[in-house]
Amino acid sequence: DTIKELFEIIPGDGEQLLERDASQCRRCAVVGNSGNLRQSQYGQDIDAHDFVLRMNRAPTAGFESDVGSKTTHHLVYPESFRDLAENVSMIVIPFKTLDLRWIVSALTTGTINFTYVPVPRKIKVKRDKILVYHPVFIKYVYDHWLQNHGRYPSTGILSVIFALHLCDEVDVYGFGADSNGNWHHYWENNASGGAFRKTMVHDGDFESNITLTLASIDKIRFFKGR
Ligand SMILES: *[C@@H]1O[C@H](CO)[C@@H](O)[C@H](O)[C@H]1NC(C)=O
Ligand SMILES: *[C@@H]1O[C@H](CO)[C@@H](O)[C@H](O)[C@H]1NC(C)=O
Ligand SMILES: *[C@@H]1O[C@H](CO)[C@@H](O)[C@H](O)[C@H]1NC(C)=O
Ligand SMILES: *[C@@H]1O[C@H](CO)[C@@H](O)[C@H](O)[C@H]1NC(C)=O
Repeated sequence: DTIKELFEIIPGDGEQLLERDASQCRRCAVVGNSGNLRQSQYGQDIDAHDFVLRMNRAPTAGFESDVGSKTTHHLVYPESFRDLAENVSMIVIPFKTLDLRWIVSALTTGTINFTYVPVPRKIKVKRDKILVYHPVFIKYVYDHWLQNHGRYPSTGILSVIFALHLCDEVDVYGFGADSNGNWHHYWENNASGGAFRKTMVHDGDFESNITLTLASIDKIRFFKGR
């Protein structure tokens, strides 16, 4: 019932992602939020890709020289929503049914303001810019790639596997620890903050191993930053 209601509100036309000129190579940058992007100077390289995928709270303003300024797709769930530029496609990852109901609510009545934390009542995103990550694909990533490690996949690994299915070349930036072994976000000053790895929700080590293994067999390119 929720899905029926949702797709009465948004077109959810993922076909646009599949429409492409077969003679051209689609190059994608998947930009994670690791502090290893600091002083990396990757900005221009990232912006040179056809698709630039970012996720969760990731800002670009103020960090352009390291993370770039272009975004074509932004992956979020209600609790990690941020305002996006008009021309950015928002890809909602529904970790629970309430996330799908939140999309409907946020575009219409604004009744949902709390899940397990406060969430925005209303969002300003054009309906045809909203896509929904298929729950079956989340399960596919969890079963086949993560082999059921962690409680569920992170937005990061979901973005990498998504890009593998969509792009001819996948370049991965901003994943993993920095060179001092810290796991924090590039916009945080506290290098021991963030604590992605300590949440026990995601298996950071296993996910990191997948990404590095894909890089070792040339399925993706991995830019380790600083
Ligand atoms: C999106 O719009 C901004 C202006 O708001 C523009 O600078 C940018 O080039 C546009 N991005 C794409 C991918 O078209
Ligand atoms: C959510 O909305 C209810 C009803 O309007 C209100 O009582 C509550 O304080 C709101 N909660 C948050 C987190 O904004
Ligand atoms: C940095 O983050 C850690 C882990 O969240 C916290 O324990 C510590 O108090 C923070 N330090 C500062 C200066 O904010
Ligand atoms: C991934 O884990 C396997 C099994 O523990 C290990 O043999 C392999 O070296 C790891 N690969 C990378 C790239 O870390």
